[in-house]
Amino acid sequence: MTEPFHVKDLSLAEKGANRIMLAESMMPVLSLLRRKYADEKPFEGYRVSMCLHVTKETAVLCRVLREGGAKVALCASNPLSTQDDVAAALAVEGFNVYAFRGMSTQDYYQAIGKALSHEPHLLVDDGADLITSLHRLIHGFEDVYLEDVRRGMDGADVPRVLGATEETTTGVTRLRALDGEGLLAFPVIAVNDALSKSLFDNPLGTGQSALDGVLRATNLLLAGKTVVVAGYGRVGAGIAERAKGMGARVVVVEPDPIKALQAYMNGFTVTSMSKASEIGDVFITATGNIDVIRGEHFEKMKDGVFLANAGHMDVEINKQDLKQLAVSVETIRENVTLYRLRNGRKLFLLADGRLVNLVCAEGHPSEVMDLSFSLQAESLRYLIKNVEKLGKHVYTVPREIDEAVAALKLAAFGVELERLTPRQQEYMRSWMAGT
Ligand SMILES: NC(=O)c1ccc[n+]([C@@H]2O[C@H](COP(=O)([O-])OP(=O)(O)OC[C@H]3O[C@@H](n4cnc5c(N)ncnc54)[C@H](O)[C@@H]3O)[C@@H](O)[C@H]2O)c1
Repeated sequence: MTEPFHVKDLSLAEKGANRIMLAESMMPVLSLLRRKYADEKPFEGYRVSMCLHVTKETAVLCRVLREGGAKVALCASNPLSTQDDVAAALAVEGFNVYAFRGMSTQDYYQAIGKALSHEPHLLVDDGADLITSLHRLIHGFEDVYLEDVRRGMDGADVPRVLGATEETTTGVTRLRALDGEGLLAFPVIAVNDALSKSLFDNPLGTGQSALDGVLRATNLLLAGKTVVVAGYGRVGAGIAERAKGMGARVVVVEPDPIKALQAYMNGFTVTSMSKASEIGDVFITATGNIDVIRGEHFEKMKDGVFLANAGHMDVEINKQDLKQLAVSVETIRENVTLYRLRNGRKLFLLADGRLVNLVCAEGHPSEVMDLSFSLQAESLRYLIKNVEKLGKHVYTVPREIDEAVAALKLAAFGVELERLTPRQQEYMRSWMAGT
């Protein structure tokens, strides 16, 4: 029988509860859904296991789903992103939460096993470690981490999951690959790809909080610095824009010609990582790719450079290369590791190459997670209603849900929408009216 929770320190619960209250007050759409679900109980009888960053906003989602009748288990989606006070508050509220900051890889996968041991009907994932661990079990793909997942499950059966949702770009990429190989065992809704998620959460949420993380860890002045942003996708474009707004000279590194052209025409310098590594003061990766900054780049960097990653996995900045080039490695303050290179230069790695916004700051602001997690909740509801009709594939969030969440957010701001007249609607549907 799995333990009911595993958190760092229950005495932090009051502090965590206060933070959750603050987040709740900035999440009007989720609050509205909470009231609606309290009446309708759409999740009654459903167990939901979630693998998310354990932040105050995630805690609000846990409460909303519980209000709707769900039994919720939660494990961390990153070993370093857990807010221990929030985890403690959730444990005190009776949630099955398995998360603490500074988990080892073994702890991390055991926690995933514990979340799976609650026999979930539905999964909510961020980065797809929960869903892919379950698929390794289902399809018998043995790997080093599966042993820890099994240990966490403590003899529980492999759950028969009805469907799942995925929060981030990297998770969706992995799940589309699983779908492409014909191995997906249930439908998955790609919440990341909804417009009211990816137009706001990725550029505005990560854009702001990644810089917040860099600043909290270093207290450096961005004005006048050369900030190299790797990846000009949804996240990278947001980081670049905000760094520019704070007076940095922003250099973008991007392999996609269209994105690179967009960055160039938005006024950024665009070049290769090889060239950028000679001029940058701060490097921030946001690509979802591996080895974006590696040995050949570290060797060219100036003395005193800061390296940070905002992409989901800690593989964008190659830490093995960094270690190999270093004569010493030292943690000089929380979340800042100094690598002294053989060439005499110092490089500072932030957050051990993990998500800088979640490790060095508090992750996305609550207002933006209001949108993303409202989409999560409504997507779970959609899955329950439509599970018979859906195949074992990755689906986008239905447009009606996407627009409804955006409309609720606008209503919360008190913003009035333009309504089309019948003549305008007719005109937009017609091919008859010409020049
Ligand atoms: N930190 C957070 O809280 C947070 C939030 C949202 C997304 N993410 C993660 O951020 C990453 C990026 O997400 P996104 O939505 O912007 O994805 P995206 O697909 O919109 O953008 C990624 C961009 O990186 C580029 N790229 C790929 N390899 C590169 C390389 N070697 N060098 C430079 N650029 C390269 C791609 O061409 C693309 O334009 C993902 O891992 C995603 O999961 C993190």
